[in-house]
Amino acid sequence: AHKKITKVCCLGAGYVGSPTSAVIAHKSGDLQVTIADISTERISRWINATNEKELPIYEPGLFDVLECRGRNLHFTADIDKAIEEADLIFVSVNTPTKKKGMGAGFAADLGYVESATRRIAKVATSDKIVVEKSTVPCRTAQSMRKILEANGKPGVHFDILSNPEFLAEGTAIKDLLSPDRVLIGSLDNDRGKSAAASLAEIYANWVPRERIITTNVWSSELSKLVANALLAQRISSINAVSAICEATGADVDEVAYACGLDTRIGPKFLKASVGFGGSCFQKDILNLVYLSESLHLPEVAAYWKQVVDMNEYQKSRFTKRVIQSLFNTLTGKKIALFGFAFKKDTGDTRESAAIALAKNFVQEQCQVSIYDPKVEEQQIWLDLSEPGVDSSLTEAKKYVTIAKDAFEAAKDADAIVIATEWDAFKDTELDYEKIYEQMNKPAFIFDGRLILDSKKLEKMGFKVEVIGKTR
Ligand code: NAD
Ligand code: UGA
Repeated sequence: AHKKITKVCCLGAGYVGSPTSAVIAHKSGDLQVTIADISTERISRWINATNEKELPIYEPGLFDVLECRGRNLHFTADIDKAIEEADLIFVSVNTPTKKKGMGAGFAADLGYVESATRRIAKVATSDKIVVEKSTVPCRTAQSMRKILEANGKPGVHFDILSNPEFLAEGTAIKDLLSPDRVLIGSLDNDRGKSAAASLAEIYANWVPRERIITTNVWSSELSKLVANALLAQRISSINAVSAICEATGADVDEVAYACGLDTRIGPKFLKASVGFGGSCFQKDILNLVYLSESLHLPEVAAYWKQVVDMNEYQKSRFTKRVIQSLFNTLTGKKIALFGFAFKKDTGDTRESAAIALAKNFVQEQCQVSIYDPKVEEQQIWLDLSEPGVDSSLTEAKKYVTIAKDAFEAAKDADAIVIATEWDAFKDTELDYEKIYEQMNKPAFIFDGRLILDSKKLEKMGFKVEVIGKTR
């Protein structure tokens, strides 16, 4: 028999914590769900947003599932109270790559996970199920257990589960409502299995039972890193192929289509691009690389590292193609950068390839005008400057402007670079004839996302350059 959970809390009101908790609350009317965060500013935005635009993050469909705010979904900055009252606690805090110390540049910074765990140990006066939702290196649950056991109040028992999240930004709500699978890792004993059953019961409110799978804790933790590594590996593979295509006359979309029809390969995640971005792929692969090295498996580490190296190569290769096409100099020219988010349907820019491209163009002393439908202006300046170095912002502002729409960005520009695959940038949505008229000639367009009909644009007069295709 397992315990029925009535109160849940989630530490971390970010891209994962808030959508996940909101869907749980939306689908489980009898469950009270509280989301707590150390950022009071973030929390008040979650509480007070009266429309989609006022939410701290942009995610299609999110505002609709927040309908249960105030009923069985609550946001608070009172972390201790939220912990105290809950039977089950999701730890969904950030786990960025370490910047300093041992493993810097590779290992995950577990400081936030540890401080959340210590808080739970300190505050809890009744038994808790603690769920590791953040993406962490294999065996982190073990460390959490030790911290909880060493610091908890006498008689208070903690069960630890691993329950990694597989949602992708831009489709988070859809992914949460119908996940391919929910993965729960637990200790292989009665207590562990009972805790896993309690959590499974929550998901079973809307997820078919056969999609809720249970494994041991280490498999669960490792599966999350491996899933991201495999997804990113497909992108790096097709991006490597895009370079061969450009040199041979093969067409990367045709190659991906032909290969993807093989049911063993499958069609998804084979879209060549300017390089993958997002807060997790690079971080999690580097994490896997670090883990492999720590386990004295240098060949394994080198194998996965190559996925990240290929991604860096793709960004610099694309930059080079832009420079070469524009007669080997960008100095004094103007580039319109269409898109700054790391993918469409999100305002998130973490590790976006667009950041690298914008910085590269600025290095060439080129004016860059950026337009993105969802990214906030302030975020762009943050991404283009060095934290704490005022002069870097001044320098960025010398070259970069932020446009209110695609037309303004492209006015008097020598080239358009498509960095994000927003639907609004497709030639069926945007009036490229009008854009062409206002550009310097020859007017170039670099399709870094393969979203345009190049023949159509060439007819208008554009010189079109596409990733994975020759001219
Ligand atoms: P995020 O930065 O958007 O949110 C993390 C939040 O945790 C922040 O608001 C921060 O203030 C808060 N926080 C930090 N320490 C805290 C504490 N001690 N108590 C309470 N709140 C605290 O991060 P995210 O994108 O939501 O990612 C969270 C985790 O989920 C990461 O481990 C990430 O790898 C993983 N993940 C992310 C995605 C994604 O698409 N973003 C998908 C799957 C998994
Ligand atoms: C990714 C995974 O897809 C999620 O399953 C996982 O939960 C998440 O990481 C995480 O752990 O954070 P996310 O980064 O939000 O989700 O978005 P993706 O759709 O995976 O896209 C990542 C990057 O790859 C984007 O820059 C995207 O444009 C790029 N991409 C994706 C390609 O270049 N080609 C493709 O075929 C697919």
